[in-house]
Amino acid sequence: MTTLYEVHGSVALITLSNPPVNGLGYATRVSLTDNLQKANDDDAVKSIVITGAGKAFSGGADINEFGSPKAVQEPNLLSVILAIENSSKPVVAAIHSVCMGGGLELALGCHYRIAAPGCSIALPEVKLGLLPGAGGTQRLPRALGVEPALNMIVSGESVKSDMLAQIPGQKLFDRMASSVETLADEAFAFAQAIADTRPLPLVRSLPCKHRNGDAYFQFARNMVKGMAKNFPAPLKCVDAVEAATKQKFDEGMRLEREFFTNLMFTPESRALRHIFMAERAASKIPDLPADTPKREINSVAVIGAGTMGGGIAMNFLNAGIPVKMLEMKPEALERGIATIRKNYESQVKKGKLKQDKYEQRMGLLSTTLSYGDLKDADLVIEAVFEDMGVKQAVFRELDRVMKPGAILASNTSTLDLNQIASFTQRPEDVVGLHFFSPANIMKLLEVVRGEKTGKDVLATVMAIAKKIRKTAVVSGVCDGFIGNRMIEQYGRQGGFLLDEGCTPEQVDKAIEKFGFAMGPFRMGDLAGNDIGWAIRKRRYQEKPDMKYSKTADLLCEKGRFGQKTGAGWYDYVAGKRDAIPNQEVVKMIEEHRASLGITPRKISDEEIVQRLVYSLVNEGAHILEEGIASKASDIDMVYLMGYGFPIYRGGPMLYADQVGLFNVVQAMKRFAKNPLDDAGFWKPAPLLARLAAEGKTFN
Ligand code: 3HC
Ligand code: NAI
Repeated sequence: MTTLYEVHGSVALITLSNPPVNGLGYATRVSLTDNLQKANDDDAVKSIVITGAGKAFSGGADINEFGSPKAVQEPNLLSVILAIENSSKPVVAAIHSVCMGGGLELALGCHYRIAAPGCSIALPEVKLGLLPGAGGTQRLPRALGVEPALNMIVSGESVKSDMLAQIPGQKLFDRMASSVETLADEAFAFAQAIADTRPLPLVRSLPCKHRNGDAYFQFARNMVKGMAKNFPAPLKCVDAVEAATKQKFDEGMRLEREFFTNLMFTPESRALRHIFMAERAASKIPDLPADTPKREINSVAVIGAGTMGGGIAMNFLNAGIPVKMLEMKPEALERGIATIRKNYESQVKKGKLKQDKYEQRMGLLSTTLSYGDLKDADLVIEAVFEDMGVKQAVFRELDRVMKPGAILASNTSTLDLNQIASFTQRPEDVVGLHFFSPANIMKLLEVVRGEKTGKDVLATVMAIAKKIRKTAVVSGVCDGFIGNRMIEQYGRQGGFLLDEGCTPEQVDKAIEKFGFAMGPFRMGDLAGNDIGWAIRKRRYQEKPDMKYSKTADLLCEKGRFGQKTGAGWYDYVAGKRDAIPNQEVVKMIEEHRASLGITPRKISDEEIVQRLVYSLVNEGAHILEEGIASKASDIDMVYLMGYGFPIYRGGPMLYADQVGLFNVVQAMKRFAKNPLDDAGFWKPAPLLARLAAEGKTFN
């Protein structure tokens, strides 16, 4: 049973009971409607209370049903709410913990609402690329006032029940319970007190006006247009709320439904819903049961106070976990600490961090030059030079000094984690924690699972990732793991595009128009072109047959490493990040092209985007097939959180699904015919070829 039914004296209690958050799926709607009818049929019942079991009143419509016939199957949410409104006996919503989306819409259909203090109230549909579709845009402005309601609907943000209760004239809550513990008793008492009140109050009957109607909505539209950019839903929220102020209730409801249905089929909503699920799915590892034991992490050590070490340390300090940093020389330690201080001070200056918090965090940081001082740390993260010899020395030392049960992690971005683990007598304690730069800001954490990494170690680092607010995605061991392995193919395509006729600016602009935060050449300048150069030099030895454009090497030979040298694919003015196209670089590319005997051709933005994005997709398919990633949505999370892939496209694998894998394969076959490209690479990964042939998708 997804709702429970009890009668206490003259009050019927219907409890939504559909864990984890009492989503209003088909079975729950049926059960709720049946129990409502039962209460209405029972002469002993004079009033009805609806509440939720567990950790929510209700998290809203069941997101898992979206896109399936069940989502709209009768009784749909609109019909359930109508049945509540039409109940001959008063219905009271007793709200606690979380009341969101369809859950709030359901409560707004009840005749009365009593809320516990501190609950999170929201209409978060806009975050899924939708708008409230069960009357939220029509009832909330009536209950709360137009402006606060529109703010909630357009932002999707949660507001605490206590705050809402203070809005003058609000009719959202008829009463606030004194505590969550007393909510049930107070709801019963309230239900008994209003049992005979007639006519029953309905939110739909409340007036809904804004004193400056047109001007206010014009202002709201302008604000929202600026913020919403590639998402259609926020503007539709404004339209729907405006309708609440100008149309009759039923017409407003009709419009809301029309907007909701249209938005449900947009690629943007599909992407946002995918991301919601993908984010949660990332923490679920197929062979790691939820009850896998975890180790306690109360202290952390970081080796290397360079670019990454400092940022990594900040994550733990921010979460209140003490950190000890180790370096080879006192100067390096001082430099590292100074950078951390500078970062925090800038946050204090911007008002993002309070002075006392800053001091508290710095108080958790200590330093050492001696490995012996690290021995008691529960987790140690190495962030020293990317060199196997150096890593070997560090891990040998860690193996010698660290207490039994300590987790030994490496932040390596390319090296073989299994080999690193083999430098110790305890490979089961070794794991990769691949942070992205700047490590204190970037949400992504690739957790690299070695052949021998213990399950408890994996479970522990996934939990600690959550604590430091990272989106952790598990990757198997391979060169570049998920993200960098794919980006190498994308970068290679960028090089071929230059050889064939593009400028760096043209390539960057095309992919930025597609929605990437930064094109491959601006990104290279930011990360440092010397990093890619070092990788290519290694590749020339390891894979002599792999084809690369030589332009990036020529650029590095000129010392144009990017922003850090003030010159890369573009020029940079000191202290600024604006990329200024450089004619010498364009000439260098042209001369190289001529030396290869290539006649430049005009390449469309569409081709640029397809070649760049499909190169990610094909490598992603290999990664999936090899089991390096356990699901396509993990690959999407890596690209969304770590590489600036446009959110509204949902990641490379979902994007390919939406284009249609058959179409992707057809385009790849075309690219394979280009003699200047790498035909071998464009052979579709077997998984991609199979899914395309079967008309299936990755996700
Ligand atoms: N439907 C189905 N499952 C849901 C859900 C929903 N509306 N909301 C959350 N869940 C599931 C999650 O997928 C997760 O499942 P898992 O344990 O299998 O991974 C579980 O509930 C717990 O979710 P969180 O990890 O996010 O737990 P938190 O305690 O941190 O947060 C929450 C709980 C605040 C409810 C948060 O999950 C949330 O914001 N959910 C989204 C709510 C939402 O968007 N509701 C609107 C739905 S659309 C709608 O109602 C349309 C209507 O207008 C017609
Ligand atoms: P860095 O050069 O900025 O810092 C490395 C630090 O390690 C230096 O301060 C150095 O003094 C110290 N160090 C070197 N050997 C040491 C030893 N034996 N004991 C103690 N300290 C030692 O390097 P960066 O960029 O911070 O990279 C560190 C690691 O993080 C590398 O494995 C790199 O591949 C990885 N990484 C780097 C990213 C980046 O964008 N810079 C992104 C993700 C991972």
